[in-house]
Parts: sequence; C-alpha cells; structure tokens
Amino acid sequence: MIVPLRRDGAAHAAGAASLLMAALVTAVLGLAACHRSALPEKGTYPERLYAARCGQCHAPYDPRTMTAAMWQVQMHVMEGTMAAAGRRPLTPAERKTITDYVTRNAGRD
Ligand code: HEC
Repeated sequence: MIVPLRRDGAAHAAGAASLLMAALVTAVLGLAACHRSALPEKGTYPERLYAARCGQCHAPYDPRTMTAAMWQVQMHVMEGTMAAAGRRPLTPAERKTITDYVTRNAGRD
C-alpha cells in the first residue's frame, strides 16, 4: 500500500518538473523573441544598422535597458571588443548613427 503511493508521488514530481521545465523554456524563448522584436524605431536605417553591427555576437541589446551615459561607455568598450575580434571597425558615420540611436532611445536615470 505504501509503495504504490510513493511511486505515484514520484511520478507526480517528475511530471511537475518537466512541466515546469517546459514552462521555463517557453518563457525564455518568449522573452528572447520579445527582446528582438521590441527594438525602438523598428525598420529605420539607424535601427537596422544597430542590429546589423551590434547584433552579430549577441542579440542587439534594447537601448532602453541602459542610460545614455552607460551607452557612451559601452560603445567605446564594444569597439575595443570588435577590434580584438578582428571585425571591421565602425566608420565615423556608423559610430555617430549608432551612438545617436542608442542614446536617444536610452532609458532614463
Ligand atoms: C565581436 C563581437 C561583438 C560585437 C560585434 C559587439 N559585441 Fe557587445 N558584447 C560582446 C561580448 C563578448 C560581450 C560580453 C562580454 C563583455 O561584456 O565584454 C558583449 C556585451 C555587450 C553588452 C552588455 C554589457 C553588460 O555589461 O552587460 C552590451 C550592452 C553590448 N555588448 C553592446 C554592443 C554594441 C552597442 C555593439 C555595437 C557597437 C556590440 N555590442 C557589438 C561582443 C560583441
């Protein structure tokens, strides 16, 4: 009597764990999809340039997640990362377009 009850319990726990895992995977994929489609100024030249140049190694970060001051620093850091990885450097025009794009869409302090 006790043994079958235990088995039931184990089966329930396993079922709940895989359901939870499925829910987590769905949530993470949903967030990732959301992250990608939620870039501001979707479809404009600055948004496309940003996604193309800053979305090669990781998904492009949503500009709203950092302040303008943080973006100024991050642009500098990433140009170093790009150089170290042997990527084509940003042209002055690309740098200006991307920096303007992320700072005008930046989050507020
Ligand atoms: C050559 C690959 C590469 C390219 C191209 C690249 N990044 Fe990154 N980026 C990384 C790596 C690797 C990390 C994580 C490690 C780190 O912080 O250095 C990162 C991290 C970041 C982060 C998160 C920093 C944090 O503190 O959480 C931001 C924001 C970011 N990149 C923005 C950009 C922007 C903006 C551009 C375009 C100008 C860009 N990245 C282009 C490789 C790249």
